[in-house]
Amino acid sequence: MVIAIDGPAASGKGTLAKRLAAHYRLPHLDTGLLYRAVALALLDAGLDLADRAAAAAAARALSPEFLGDARLRGSAMGEAASIVSAQPEVRAALLDWQRRFAGSAAGAVLDGRDIGTVVCPDAAVKLFVTASAEERARRRHRELDGRGEPVAYEAVLSDILRRDARDADRSAAPLRVAEDAVVIDTTELDADAAFRAATGVVDGRGGPQ
Ligand code: DC
Repeated sequence: MVIAIDGPAASGKGTLAKRLAAHYRLPHLDTGLLYRAVALALLDAGLDLADRAAAAAAARALSPEFLGDARLRGSAMGEAASIVSAQPEVRAALLDWQRRFAGSAAGAVLDGRDIGTVVCPDAAVKLFVTASAEERARRRHRELDGRGEPVAYEAVLSDILRRDARDADRSAAPLRVAEDAVVIDTTELDADAAFRAATGVVDGRGGPQ
């Protein structure tokens, strides 16, 4: 059983994906990490994020050991990833990688922006996890504060709005809700309630065998 989870930045989809993978004992791929790793490879090589040929080459050269780098996790790399991810050549180079992962075991959980629409259109379960931009900004703000990286709330909000617009307005695999996805709006749900809603959907489809 493939569980596809999509949604905008800071919607809680990553936390939910990890919990579902642990609960159903399925491998998990955070596909945002792939785009972040491509961006980091370019920046490390001193190349421009808009250099399409270099970005495509970096995407083709990506290997799993790049995904453990702690520098991938910060919000600056999220922004850089959003820029390289708009390039169709980058997306094409990462598509097989993601599909191989999805098909390599009895099932898998993948989270990102286009899993239910492009990467795994036949996924047994598609969830679209979202929340208001203000609530997502509040969560991200709290998280940065906790990590000792204080930033003004307004700056976090405008960051999130800019990233939403770029991810949704690009022509290559834009962020959108798959027709057969179940939407989980976490604006008023905590992580436990979101998890219960998601397992309700998965178990309702028969769950992983
Ligand atoms: O989920 P994240 O914040 O780690 O993703 C970083 C960026 O990567 C996001 O702004 C858009 C891009 N991305 C994508 O285009 N498709 C995916 N499946 C996952 C991420």
